[in-house]
Amino acid sequence: MDKKFFVTTPIYYVNGEPHVGTAYTTIAADVISRYKRLKGYDVYFLTGTDEHGQKIEETANKAGLTPKELVDKTSPKFKKMWERLNISNTDFIRTTEDRHIKAVNKILKKVNENGDIYKGNYEGLYCVSCENFVPKNQVDKDELCPDCGKKLRTVKEESYFFKMSKYQDQLLKHIEENPNFIQPEYRKNEIVSFIKQGLTDLSISRNTFKWGIPLEIDNGHVIYVWFDALTNYITAVGYENDSEKFDKYWNNSEVLHIIGKDIIRFHAIIWPTMLMSAGIKVPDKIVAHGWWTSEGEKMSKSKNNVVDPEKEIEKYGLDAFRYFMLREVNFGVDGDYSQQGIVNRINYDLANDLGNLLNRTIGMVKKYFNGIVIEGEGEDNFDKEIKALYSQTLVEVDDYMNKLQFSKALESIWKFISRMNKYIDETAPWTLAKDESKKSRLAVVMYNLVESLYKISVLISPFMPETSIKMLNQLGLNEKIDNLSIEKIENWGNIPYNIKLAEPNPIFPRIELEVKEEEIIEEEQNFISIDDFSKVKIVVAEILQADNVDGADKLLKFRVSIGKKERTVLSGIAKYYKPQELIGKKVLFVSNLKPVKLRGILSEGMLLTTVTKKSIRLIEIDKSIENGTEVK
Ligand code: MSP
Repeated sequence: MDKKFFVTTPIYYVNGEPHVGTAYTTIAADVISRYKRLKGYDVYFLTGTDEHGQKIEETANKAGLTPKELVDKTSPKFKKMWERLNISNTDFIRTTEDRHIKAVNKILKKVNENGDIYKGNYEGLYCVSCENFVPKNQVDKDELCPDCGKKLRTVKEESYFFKMSKYQDQLLKHIEENPNFIQPEYRKNEIVSFIKQGLTDLSISRNTFKWGIPLEIDNGHVIYVWFDALTNYITAVGYENDSEKFDKYWNNSEVLHIIGKDIIRFHAIIWPTMLMSAGIKVPDKIVAHGWWTSEGEKMSKSKNNVVDPEKEIEKYGLDAFRYFMLREVNFGVDGDYSQQGIVNRINYDLANDLGNLLNRTIGMVKKYFNGIVIEGEGEDNFDKEIKALYSQTLVEVDDYMNKLQFSKALESIWKFISRMNKYIDETAPWTLAKDESKKSRLAVVMYNLVESLYKISVLISPFMPETSIKMLNQLGLNEKIDNLSIEKIENWGNIPYNIKLAEPNPIFPRIELEVKEEEIIEEEQNFISIDDFSKVKIVVAEILQADNVDGADKLLKFRVSIGKKERTVLSGIAKYYKPQELIGKKVLFVSNLKPVKLRGILSEGMLLTTVTKKSIRLIEIDKSIENGTEVK
């Protein structure tokens, strides 16, 4: 394999345990690693733990442990969590390992030999939580960290400095000449304007605490934790002692760092300037993702709302969790982790769209051909259409994956899944089955369905590896994850005739979630664009019937007319109205909301209401306006 790919996650601080935020970066890196393997790349995938520094030392002190005891206790929890999440990393690095300490000493020596280290005094503010020196002009009189909001400390100590300012122009030039170096674009722009304000030199040693790598040239100092931590990326690929490996995975590889938006300055400024000084190639790409909130709020231990991946996996299953995280938000922007959000994704995308396509297909092949995929003849327009869409899907997916636009890649795959569900309706196999002369056509339709499912299994395998294997097994294909490849699914017609499908078995059962009243009346705080708004279809509806719902004292059930069609809808307004008084009223109705089941009843839209703390009122419309009239 001559195509090499080296991908890294940040190394995680071991003062806390893994959570949904750290899981997110790691899953993203796993997905791109698996995709690159499907594309035939030799992949080195690195993750690990960041174990030195003042924060770790203080956390250990508070816990009554030595720093070494703390890091040895917590680091394995990350390793275990990544195993649980089915992460396919090649290496797991710990910054307390000997190989790393040697590599840090080596790069520092190089930087020093290059004349880029000098001794001075640091006097200024420091955030222990971010392990960051914060310039005075970035804070007000309260002296809180502009990034995490915690109280800053005043530090005054002797320190060694790295001449970072010397590399300002070289770095700017590099960013300009390599437009993909920092992504997304808006983050790049932030970095560029930050650099243009003028880089200062960086304090790279501390001498007021002990937990760090001692500076070789002055043992009274330990190396600044970020200088130490960033070096992990080259330690792992043999910078210190394995030049062959280093050539392979650093010098001659596509190098990608995936990080969170909060640590972009360290990666896009400190790291490349360190490398420039040491005469080492800089990485190809640094991609920063957004942050997750939990049910609309910032996650924090004090609010007790930190999402624990372990609990989510227990509730929803591993692959549903992986899928949700990468589908729910575009990589780069912030996202919200909500129970309703993951349940909707499971019910609509996984159970409905994907699960149904698999079940319906296997069910039909069983019914019409005893579970065997037989050869038929001919190709009609529907067949041509799905094949054309498939070719387009492959191109789109590849393009999005290369840009780490995971959500868009999944959207593309799901467009194809929906198209295949539609193909079943268009070709109507149940009608073909009634006519003996259409048997060959029926066989072609079945073949195309099984073929599409094979391709879908491969395309989703980076995101949902276990599901992919389950699907392939149900299709009678005993493939191993390591044998799958994009090359093998490029053309139509890969699966052999006469394979026998296994028993259908639902891969994602639907999930019901109780809706709490607070959720119904929750206020929207985020701005939306006009395009978002125009997606909502609001029409005039006439209430034909209104009833109470057994066992749900807040809900009323309605039958409404929206012109030519009628709909059933539930609304949490039982406290404010008697059902009879509503019949005949004309109200506003959202008609394109995805149906949801509440209390076993399918609610197919939403009645618009005004909401105050005291009351909820329907918005009534003049009775002369026709049912179904659109509101814009
Ligand atoms: N140790 C440093 C990284 C050194 S890399 C050379 C560090 N560690 S961390 O454990 O605090 O954070 C690791 C990553 O987790 C960061 O990329 C950060 O953005 C990410 N996240 C932490 N909380 C998060 C969310 N709530 N949402 C998404 N990602 C979040 O920084």
